[in-house]
Amino acid sequence: MMGPAWWAVLVLLAMADAVAGRFVVEKNSVQVTSPESLKGKYECAIGNFGLPQYGGTLQGWVVYPKDNRQACKEFDVSFKGHKSGARPNFVLIDRGECFFTTKAWNAQLAGAAAILVVDSKDEPLITMDNPEDTGTKHLENITIPSVLITKKLGEDLKKSAENGDMVSVLLDWRESLPHPDERVEYEFWTNSNDECGPKCDMQMDFVKSFRGTAQVLEQKGYTQFTPHYITWYCPEAFTVSKQCKSQCINHGRYCAPDPEQDFSKGYDGKDVVVQNLHQVCVFKVANDTGKPWLWWDYVHDFAIRCPMKEKKYTHECASHVIKSLGLDMDKINKCVGDPEADEENPILKAEQDAQIGHGKRGDVTILPTLVVNNRQYRGKLDKGAVLKAICSGFEETTEPAICLSEDVQTNECLENHGGCWVDKANNVTACKDTFRGRVCECPIVKGVKFVGDGYTNCEASGVGRCEINNGGCWKETKNGKTISACSNLKVANVHKVSRAMV
Ligand SMILES: *[C@@H]1O[C@H](CO)[C@@H](O)[C@H](O)[C@H]1NC(C)=O
Ligand SMILES: *[C@@H]1O[C@H](CO)[C@@H](O)[C@H](O)[C@H]1NC(C)=O
Ligand SMILES: *[C@@H]1O[C@H](CO)[C@@H](O)[C@H](O)[C@H]1NC(C)=O
Repeated sequence: MMGPAWWAVLVLLAMADAVAGRFVVEKNSVQVTSPESLKGKYECAIGNFGLPQYGGTLQGWVVYPKDNRQACKEFDVSFKGHKSGARPNFVLIDRGECFFTTKAWNAQLAGAAAILVVDSKDEPLITMDNPEDTGTKHLENITIPSVLITKKLGEDLKKSAENGDMVSVLLDWRESLPHPDERVEYEFWTNSNDECGPKCDMQMDFVKSFRGTAQVLEQKGYTQFTPHYITWYCPEAFTVSKQCKSQCINHGRYCAPDPEQDFSKGYDGKDVVVQNLHQVCVFKVANDTGKPWLWWDYVHDFAIRCPMKEKKYTHECASHVIKSLGLDMDKINKCVGDPEADEENPILKAEQDAQIGHGKRGDVTILPTLVVNNRQYRGKLDKGAVLKAICSGFEETTEPAICLSEDVQTNECLENHGGCWVDKANNVTACKDTFRGRVCECPIVKGVKFVGDGYTNCEASGVGRCEINNGGCWKETKNGKTISACSNLKVANVHKVSRAMV
């Protein structure tokens, strides 16, 4: 096998800057609610795969398996069990021996609702990530959240579980992202290279599935989105080498690794950088004309019409897509400049500079990366999970309606109606799924508004209330005639409601 040495010449600015360089471990919290001796709030690190529940919480029982404690093989037990009530089970797993993603997959197969990986040494928390090339077999299908906890907390939880204590915890992502105001700023760090296997495919699937949502959010002013591109550079001693000439533009200043890692075949790194540059310029020109969302159309259409992996990418093909979107080609060309020139390109220089966090956030070194309100999103680039993350970036009560829609449901109402009020006879419940988790809110059924606290009581009120379960009133049918104590004019529980509202 060919070693990577020949292309590893390229350097990522963020990696080279050892002083300012800073990879940030993004966190959520785990709150132990029982046993009493461990009660409290602890930090944990969000794994960069599976679906974290940004903005929400998840309550469950902690299970420490008897064997297969590193979860490197499939479990022969099930964690689905309902014997401890409606709450799901979280599996405590020891770090080591196999990929984190393998552990998550095996636990998910056995019915776990989340995994808590226990670090094997005393150290600051790390970000659990997925392997680049190998072991990604099930990556796209991991849907449970994964967190890493410290060795100390892990040992304590294990001890309690082995003692037979009921160990109950709340995983909490509500404060994982800042949510200061009614607009969310987010960045997507990407690359036009589509030939990196499952990772590139997932990135493109994300763009395709998220495009519509991103455009609506942007058009209505809820978000400010900026795409970014990672570029490498060539150390000065190598600028005239064959490697740098085929992978870089502007005399080694901006580079991308060769897509197939083979100079003699297909596209070169240079082609990727040039396309990256065009994509930044598409955004810039579109943004200047007040239509930043056209970037999503460009990237989407480009992937369909000019994919590199199908050898369809040419300058003409890309130009056609730009023109079809009504963007000014002259402005784009001016923005792109001359890739052969021995000079800085202000656009790519700014991109390189933005890679470094400058103290505001961690450096961007993983591709693709989503940055929401200056924090890096961790987890799978899944439409629903990303939307949850963006939604959790709005100040409470300022979230747009899309955040409360079906796309971001948590399905907590499926079990036990989320503990909310329920009228089983009439199949009416106060449980409502939202991205922040379930809320207990009295429903409106067939136009009739229910009022109450949503937890223990909801009653039909106002006009039409007698149509539903006879308004909860006495009713008797005698000789074909129905007599009822219900009056549509009576407004139920006005007093109780006005108190419940404060
Ligand atoms: C992932 O799930 C999809 C849809 O259920 C399935 O078609 C695919 O084979 C799964 N892939 C792996 C590697 O398990
Ligand atoms: C996009 O346009 C907005 C509004 O005009 C501006 O505030 C923002 O800085 C622009 N973004 C970029 C990357 O040019
Ligand atoms: C109760 O209502 C839910 C949602 O409206 C529906 O999915 C479910 O099938 C209903 N169940 C019964 C027993 O009617």
